[in-house]
Amino acid sequence: MSDFEPVVVVFACDYCAYTAADVAGRMNLEYPAGIRIVRVPCTGKVDSLYVLRALEKGADGVLVAGCLDGDCHFKNGNLRAAARVKALKRLLDEINIGSGRVEMVQMSAGQGAVFAETARNFVATVQELGPNPIKHAASQAA
Ligand code: FES
Repeated sequence: MSDFEPVVVVFACDYCAYTAADVAGRMNLEYPAGIRIVRVPCTGKVDSLYVLRALEKGADGVLVAGCLDGDCHFKNGNLRAAARVKALKRLLDEINIGSGRVEMVQMSAGQGAVFAETARNFVATVQELGPNPIKHAASQAA
């Protein structure tokens, strides 16, 4: 069994996923320690560069976690975020980083169990992908 513990940045919408993470914590639901939550007002605010910068700075994976369809407080921010993530995944495949390192997920504020399960599943996926090759290349160059 690998001792690789991925670092995963979660850009979490304040109205849903961030609250769901809080609910997970209050319910004492476990999710991996490598999860790093960045609170954003809406996933529509998550620029592609934020995701790329997280990977450049050493994250092994990135989740963009927004409201359910029809529930975005800024009308269609989650749909815009989903489109950005789709384009990013194509780019990540083209540059051999791997599209599996970035995902868009959606949940409601009360879904603490969904947040915890999503975090566990995504970390397991990233664990199978292995360490972020950018981080590995940077440590080789140092
Ligand atoms: Fe949650 Fe837009 S307000 S994704």
